[in-house]
Amino acid sequence: MSGATTAAGGGAPLIRLRGITKVYGQGQAAFRALKGVDLDIESGDFVAIMGPSGSGKSTAMNLLGCLDVPTAGDYLFRGIAVQKLSRDERARLRRHFFGFVFQGFNLLARTTAQENVELPLLYRGESAAARHAQARAALASVGLEGWGHHTPAELSGGQQQRVAIARAIVTQPAVLLADEPTGNLDTQRGAEIMRLLWRLNTEQNITVVMVTHEADMAAYARRIVRFVDGVVASDQRNARPAGLDALPHVLEPAAEAGAA
Ligand SMILES: Nc1ncnc2c1ncn2[C@@H]1O[C@H](COP(=O)(O)OP(=O)(O)OP(=O)(O)O)[C@@H](O)[C@H]1O
Ligand SMILES: [Mg+2]
Repeated sequence: MSGATTAAGGGAPLIRLRGITKVYGQGQAAFRALKGVDLDIESGDFVAIMGPSGSGKSTAMNLLGCLDVPTAGDYLFRGIAVQKLSRDERARLRRHFFGFVFQGFNLLARTTAQENVELPLLYRGESAAARHAQARAALASVGLEGWGHHTPAELSGGQQQRVAIARAIVTQPAVLLADEPTGNLDTQRGAEIMRLLWRLNTEQNITVVMVTHEADMAAYARRIVRFVDGVVASDQRNARPAGLDALPHVLEPAAEAGAA
């Protein structure tokens, strides 16, 4: 069962940021990467975060995913005040609810696709049999059935990114955080990754928060949030996400007569 569908209580959104600031370094070298970010994200949303280089997008993603803590402000996740949690509790929250696709693929080089995808399950203490089965299923769900024994060097950029996404979703997270998941891919492969994210969002109700520099990729999101200079400069709904057009095809990859 996915945590994504469980109400946070009191109608609170899945994610609520209030007055979030992040300062890197100290004294003369101090740099304010986030200068007061307010943002709510509902369960099931698909958010593209855009904005110039250095505007704080990755910083915000790290905070959302509990990889880092803000300097000031409140982060409520399902009504829980994240900044009040211990380091261990935050790590558990992260492992239970979040999947990450980082800038660059970040796969272990001399490790097969299957083993890369199994890694988060190992951290969760799952049995070998459960790890094998779940990783195989995750690879299949990103279109890489039968590719599990290949190392990243033996895979194309698009395939490597699919492995990274399989690794991010193998734990069935409530939230998938993807930092420029199509940054290293050509337009065609990028669009395939976006359709995959769209499918995970619509079929598995995984909340997706994705950073992208490309308007074509952001067009797949249900909502586009723009960061400028450490604050949210605009926040718009996308009335017609690009994934809608691909939906019948994606839902019925091998559509036969009589299929619903
Ligand atoms: N660990 C760090 N220590 C010091 N400064 C940092 C650190 N991480 C980020 N910064 C600074 O904070 C600012 C925001 O960085 P961030 O990585 O969030 O930008 P971004 O919007 O993701 O940019 P890009 O589009 O280039 O990935 C930048 O000026 C960066 O130099
Ligand atoms: Mg970045």
